[in-house]
Formats: sequence, structure tokens, C-alpha cells
Amino acid sequence: MLSEILLGITLIIFVVYLWVKKRFRYWSDLGFLQGDPSFPMGTLSGVGTKMTNAEKLNVYYREFKGKASFVGLYNFLSPIILAIDPEFVKNILVRDFQSFHDRGMYYNKEDDPLGVSTLTLNGQEWKERRVKLTPIFTSGKIKMMFDIVDIISNKLARILEDEMAKSNDLEMRSWLQKFTIDNIGNVAFGIEPNCLEDETTEFTFYCRKMINGSFLEAIKFLFSVEWPDLARKLHLTFINKEVGDFFLKTFIQTLDDREASQIDRNDFVKLLLGLKNTYTKDQLAAEAFLVFAGGFETSSTLMTFALYELALHPDIQDRLREEILSGFEDNDGKLTYEMLVGFKYLDMVVNEALRKYPPIPIPMRKCRTTYQIPGSELVIPEGTIVQVNLLSLHYDPEYFPEPENFDPERFNEENVKNIKPYTHLPFGEGPRNCLGMRFGLMQSKIGIVKIIKSFKVSPCEKTSIPVKLKPASPFLAPNDGMWLNLTKIE
Ligand code: HEM
Repeated sequence: MLSEILLGITLIIFVVYLWVKKRFRYWSDLGFLQGDPSFPMGTLSGVGTKMTNAEKLNVYYREFKGKASFVGLYNFLSPIILAIDPEFVKNILVRDFQSFHDRGMYYNKEDDPLGVSTLTLNGQEWKERRVKLTPIFTSGKIKMMFDIVDIISNKLARILEDEMAKSNDLEMRSWLQKFTIDNIGNVAFGIEPNCLEDETTEFTFYCRKMINGSFLEAIKFLFSVEWPDLARKLHLTFINKEVGDFFLKTFIQTLDDREASQIDRNDFVKLLLGLKNTYTKDQLAAEAFLVFAGGFETSSTLMTFALYELALHPDIQDRLREEILSGFEDNDGKLTYEMLVGFKYLDMVVNEALRKYPPIPIPMRKCRTTYQIPGSELVIPEGTIVQVNLLSLHYDPEYFPEPENFDPERFNEENVKNIKPYTHLPFGEGPRNCLGMRFGLMQSKIGIVKIIKSFKVSPCEKTSIPVKLKPASPFLAPNDGMWLNLTKIE
């Protein structure tokens, strides 16, 4: 009996072994070049513990650049494609968008209403939401929110100064997160989170919980992208359940309060309420949550890394400060939207920071129909995820010589014309690119302006140089926070 059981187990292991072996030949059997997978992580081994997903994809990008325009990889046992050539990137994101309009992100309508939004939805449902939301993000509407962000940025500068009474070495990432939470809480939720003043609030607690990804969360994320049907059966949620419940309750309360009070405020709540005849409350809450989740971490990441580079490059910092101070001088000491948009050097600094540190490093699309790759015999099967790794394109010395150098001049009026199309894509590209780019840029630029105007920023003993990325975070994040020294400019 025992020998029969052992024989059975051996047979099962052998069959599984043969199946996995065959699975890991999926791309080569289809004629693609492929990375070398291993069980059980496929080509993801080391991701979440030793390195970020983007850093791992970069290993394959470098291995296959010059050999192919794309390469087959494996997220666990699931075959995916990594784009290498910018022309191929263009085909996926723009030219052949009709085959690639889904992002292939996981959502679970039943257990996680907040996770069902423009970011995650597919097909016609995505299209309808995107069309309705687009007018909310025009520059005219974003401009209306300028005053709210401007007021909060003054509070940030004041509070940083108070903090400096205790120490001039500050962990800037958390201060910048508090700034963007206060901004987004205000404009998306119509509430005043007051994180800058009191970080023990419930709101801050749930914001932090949302982004402090663990290894387990990273694996859950990858698992649900690869096996969405199974993940739904297991009731896995895209958003942590506790976090989701809190924000759903908060936003529905905000909508009810706003309707009852008839208060008129220039914020996303007002703009979203304009859609209330075509959306359910859950759907409106999901979009507000998306604005919130997409809006606070990305912008604080951008500011964090921009300040880090400015601290390491005092000459660049001085030149930026000169531009800012002369703008204020010409405008009676007041920041305006037009002035912010007119800061050319600031724009170059921000673009260079986004090159070196794209906050969302891996835009992806799911192939809706079998796709014949132009100029090739090869066919991408329906349902395949295609990933574009921004870290690879942005650090490719062919497109950005000496890529480790922080050099805003790459983006001056003359040089910017020579950047190869589809090699600098911090906001993605095509009909499914970032919807909140203008707001993200506005709040990040205001934050940088207010800090550089008032403080000299330098590295301190606790600054990690070079910066190490947090392996388990799907966003780009510094592993050890961002410690910088601030001194007040009198
Ligand atoms: C520096 C700030 C930001 C960066 C770098 C950034 C980057 C990105 C990237 C790379 C994507 C994927 C694009 C693609 O797949 O082609 C994206 C999507 C998106 N972002 Fe942003 N983002 C930022 C700020 C914001 C803000 C402030 C909001 C909201 C107010 C926002 C809302 C969205 C939405 C709704 C999508 C999904 C669009 C769709 O699927 O139709 N983002 N973002």
C-alpha cells in the first residue's frame, strides 16, 4: 500500500515537472527569444526581496537589447512579453491600441468596489469611464485647484521650519507624503486630513497602510494579475480590505455631506458630483479613490527624488533657486499658476527626475486579440500581458548618454527635440496614458518651488547614496526613506 502511495506521488511530481518544463518553453516553442525561468517564480526570482520588478526586468532588457525588439518572460508560470525596442513600444501603446486597450490589472467587483475604476477596468467599461473623467482633468479645471495646493504648500514650508528647531536632518519622504495626502484629501475627498499638523489621524494611518507594501502584498498583486479568475474565487482584493472599507465610507460620507450642505468648492468632489446621474455612489467613490491613490504617492515620490538630486547637485539647485526667486520678485512675492507653468528650468529638473525615477515604472497592456507583430512572423497570443519597463528605456545609454548623471540640460529647448520618441515615458503614452498628469505636475512643482525658495537642501549623514530602491514596492520608493539636511535661507 505504502509503495503504491509513493509511486502515485512520484508520478504526480513527474507529471508536474514535465508540465512546468513545457510551460517554461512556451515562448521558445512559439519562436520568441526568452529569459531563463526557474520554478516557482519564473523570471521573477529575487523580485520583492533583493530587487524591484523594474530592476529585474532591466536585467533581461540588457541581455536582449540588440538581439530582439521584445522578449518572452514568465511571471511565475504565466508568459508575458517585455518590450525592448521603442518602435515596438509605440505599436503597443499607440498604433495598435485597438488590440491593447486593457491594462490587465486585477479587479474584483464583488469584494472590492473601490478597486474597480478607470485604472483597472477593461474594454468598453474603461472607455466609458475615461470619456466621462477626461473633462475633470483639463488644465482649466486643474488651475481651479491651484489655490488649495498653494495654501497647503505654505503650511508645509512653515511646518518644516518648525521641525528644524529639533533637527535640520529631516526624513523628507514622509513630509512630502503628508503634503500630498493633505492636497489630495482636500481636492479629491473635500476634507482636511491635516496630516502635516497631526500624523496620528485615521486618514494618515490608512494612507500609510495603503502604500507600505510587504513582500506578501507584492506576491498577491502579481498572483492576481496572472490568475484573476482564481484570485476572485479566493476573494483576493486589489485594495487591502480594511483600507478599502475606510475610504469607501469616507468618500460616501463626503458626497452625502456635500449634497446636503450645498457648499461650492473647486475640487474633484464637485466635478465628480457632476457625474452623479450616470454613476452609482460606489463608482464615484472608486474614481475618487483612484485620484487619491494615483495622486498622492506618485507626486511625493517625484518630489522626494528631485530633492535628493538637488541636494547632490548644489549648482543645479542654485540655478533653480535663482529662477524661482526672480519669478517671485517679478510678481510681488506671490506664486501664480501662470508663473509656475513658466518656470522653464524647473520643468527641466522635473523631467530629469522623472527620467531617473519614474514613480510608476512598468506601464502594461493586455493583448485582447491574437496580435501579428508588424515586420515579424511572430504572433502574440490573446490574453498576453506586455510590459514596458521605463527604468530600462530611461537608463539606456543609447537614448540618454551617461544615464546615471543627473543632467536637466537633456530637456532644454534644443536637446529635448533630439530625444528619441517613446524613450521618455514617465506618464505612459497613448489613449490610456496618465489622466492626472497635469495635477501631478502642478502639485509636485509647487512643493519643490516652496522648499527650494526657503531652504538650502543638502545630503546628511543618514542620506543613502546611492539610493537603494525598496524591493517589494510596485511604485519606485527609496528603501531607507529620504534623509536630507535643510537650512533656512534668510
Ligand atoms: C508625478 C505624478 C504621476 C506620475 C509619474 C504618473 C504616472 C502614471 C503612469 C505611468 C500611468 C500608466 C500610464 C500607461 O499605462 O500608459 C498612470 C495612469 C494613471 N494615472 Fe497617473 N501619474 C501621476 C499622477 C497622477 C495623478 C495626480 C492622478 C490623479 C489625479 C493620476 C491618475 C491616473 C489615472 C486615472 C491613470 C489610469 C488612466 C487609464 O487607465 O485610463 N496620476 N499614471
